[in-house]
Amino acid sequence: MDSPKITLQRITRENELACIALRPREDQLSLVASNADSLVHALKEVTSIPHGIYADDLMVGFVLFDNEVYSDGYYWILRLMIDEKYQGRGYGRSAIKQIINKLKNRTDCRQIRVSHVPHNTVANRLYKQCGFRETGEFEDNGDIILSYSLGANEHGH
Ligand SMILES: CC(C)(COP(=O)(O)OP(=O)(O)OC[C@H]1O[C@@H](n2cnc3c(N)ncnc32)[C@H](O)[C@@H]1OP(=O)(O)O)[C@@H](O)C(=O)NCCC(=O)NCCS
Repeated sequence: MDSPKITLQRITRENELACIALRPREDQLSLVASNADSLVHALKEVTSIPHGIYADDLMVGFVLFDNEVYSDGYYWILRLMIDEKYQGRGYGRSAIKQIINKLKNRTDCRQIRVSHVPHNTVANRLYKQCGFRETGEFEDNGDIILSYSLGANEHGH
């Protein structure tokens, strides 16, 4: 069977209930906010836009990332999750790669940034596989900050 096509689609009134129903595994609940929380958070963060991660027509995950520069040339990925039923199939990695592809042509994007709780080794490995590096910086709560750098010379051609 062909592998499904992974796309990012905006959360709207039509698909928000499907989004809220997605959950990571029980043991991952401390790693990411619930999608309901993230949708409320997104209303306050004017630069970020919530997207469903779709495998063909099925929503399998959620990602919240900046669609406009936040500050200092940084675009942040604020949330990422894949529902427990669909993990381990490459969907998370595909979503991150698509975000990189979307943002890398923005002339005001110097870095894509993300943070995760220190013991989230799966997220750490996933982001590094996609080209992110640890910055050596931490959030106030101790979360590790990683960045994907877009060199100035990568723009404009
Ligand atoms: C992190 C998360 C989004 C990854 O999504 P996913 O679709 O399951 O991941 P993928 O199938 O794309 O895997 C990509 C890489 O992640 C790692 N990985 C994924 N699941 C893993 C697991 N259960 N154990 C170890 N490594 C794992 C692997 O390195 C994998 O690469 P490989 O296939 O070459 O080994 C998902 O595990 C999740 O929702 N976790 C809970 C929420 C969370 O931690 N979010 C991140 C907050 S910053």
